Formats: sequence, C-alpha cells, structure tokens
Amino acid sequence: MVVKEPRYLAERARLKAAEETHAPSRAPEAAPREAGREPVLSLRGITKRFGAVQALQDVDFDVHPGEVVALVGDNGAGKSTLVKVIAGVHSPDEGHVLFGGRKVAISSPTAARELGIATVFQDLALSDNLDVVANLFLGKELLRGRTLDEVGMERRSWELLRQLSAKIPSVRIPVVSLSGGQRQTVAIARSLLGDPKVVMLDEPTAALGVAQTAEVLNLIGRLRESGLGIVLISHNMADVKAVADRVAVLRLGRNNGTFRIRDVSHEDIIAAIIGATAEAPAPRARHNQES
Ligand SMILES: Nc1ncnc2c1ncn2[C@@H]1O[C@H](COP(=O)(O)OP(=O)(O)OP(=O)(O)O)[C@@H](O)[C@H]1O
Ligand SMILES: [Mg+2]
Repeated sequence: MVVKEPRYLAERARLKAAEETHAPSRAPEAAPREAGREPVLSLRGITKRFGAVQALQDVDFDVHPGEVVALVGDNGAGKSTLVKVIAGVHSPDEGHVLFGGRKVAISSPTAARELGIATVFQDLALSDNLDVVANLFLGKELLRGRTLDEVGMERRSWELLRQLSAKIPSVRIPVVSLSGGQRQTVAIARSLLGDPKVVMLDEPTAALGVAQTAEVLNLIGRLRESGLGIVLISHNMADVKAVADRVAVLRLGRNNGTFRIRDVSHEDIIAAIIGATAEAPAPRARHNQES
C-alpha cells in the first residue's frame, strides 16, 4: 500500500523531537544485552506459505531475556505472520522454534501461552464495558469456593498495576473510560498474569499521543528490566530507537538485516525496510511533495 512510504519519510522529521521526549527511557550505558546469554526464543529457517503467497521464507529470529527486539518491515513484509507463528496461530511449513533452548511445537495459542509466550494484539481485545479487574481476569477468574474471589482479583490487579507503575485511577471503572495508553497498559498487564518469559506487542503505540507513548515505552523498559524478552512490532522508528536493543528487519518475507540499535542510523533502518540504498526519497514521495 502507498500510505506507509510517506509515513516513514515523515518520521525522519519527527525523529528529533520524539527522541527528546523518549530519551529518559533509554539507558545509554547499558551493557550489550544479549552478550553471553542464551536466547529465550529462537526461530530457525521459518517458512510459511498461504497458497501461492510466500509470507515467510527461511526466517531466523532471536530474542534474549531482558531484551527488546523491534520487528519492522513494510506492509506485507511478514511481521504479523511471524508473530502468529510464535503465538501458535499459524504453524510454519518449514523451520523450527526453540524456546529456552528446547525445540518446541507451538500448535495453538494455548500452547504458546502455556510455554510462556504472551501476545498483545493490536486491537487489545478488551471488553469495553467491563472494569479493569474483570478485563485482567477474563477467562481466568479467581474462585473462592464456588464464587468469584472479587477481593483477591482486585488485590492482585492493584499489585500488578503497581509493579508496572501504571497510572490507572481505579480498577473498578470500565475500560472504555480509560485513555489509550491506560488501555494498552491494562492489555499488557493482562498478558503478564500468565507469568510469561516472552511478550509480543503489536503496534502498542500506534493510536497514542506523545505523553501516552512515552508512558507505554517506559513500561516496556520496565518489563525488560524484569528480564522478559520483548518483541515489539512498530512502524514508528522513533519508538524503535527509543526502546529497542536490536531491530530485526523483514522485507518481502525474508530477513533483511538485524542491527544493534546503537550501531544503526534511522536512515539505515528505513533503507533496509524499503530495500533502498542512497536514493531516498522515493520518486513517488518526491512527486507527492511537489504536487
Ligand atoms: N491468512 C492469510 N491468508 C493469505 N495470505 C496471507 C494471510 N496472512 C498474511 N498473508 C499474506 O502474507 C504476506 C505477509 O503478511 P503479513 O500480514 O504478515 O505482513 P505484515 O508485515 O504484518 O504487514 P502490515 O504491516 O501491513 O501489517 C502478505 O502478502 C499477506 O497478504
Ligand atoms: Mg501486520
């Protein structure tokens, strides 16, 4: 689709301002996060076809404990398909997955969750009319005898949100009345209830303003500090630069480079995404600017 290309280019202009906003969430002195550590999740040679469409071709992907890996790529590059393979929604045609160094078959979303892989999809899947507690425990309610343990669930909700330093005014208000950032926080908190080792976030800041984006990025930073491996799908290069340790680029279903974020420029990431070298902006974008 044509909409994404100008969006990337426009982000060049946004980058400076946004970097200032997000700067506190990066620790510049942080040690190389993956050095000497086993990945918690590794994909090797993953191939996935949908009929004639080759969505993924021989893709490798690693996430280490305490690391944020951004997964980027243009529309149709295969990001969602890769996430769905990891989340147990699609099974790969070829290749294998290692989790904690062990070869695993992730045959269903339930299998993924039981292994310790949590996914926050872009639509968040929250129930607007239910309150925060009910959303956090939807489908895994705590029971006390035969009745719901409302007190226990409320206490656990507060604990969890406090751990995340989440700014939620009350856990007894319907999530429809929360801001976009607060809703994202609730969705992330819910994914943490299963005590995962890997959390995948699909475009967590796409619908958020500047302050809420900073809040969610700070939350991602805290999850990293707690030792989780985090996969962040994002079209926003400022977010990627602000919070990721590494960035993995997919292009047309294949790996097109993995970079340590400190070693790579914004332009290099864009070039890997769109497959260009030095000739950006693309002719279409230049044409649009002139007209
Ligand atoms: N269920 C499906 N059936 C058929 N084709 C599919 C299916 N899911 C994805 N595809 C195709 O696989 C390719 C990769 O799609 P995917 O959704 O993984 O891309 P993406 O990187 O997530 O793109 P976007 O940034 O637009 O979300 C595309 O050509 C898409 O049309
Ligand atoms: Mg997608």
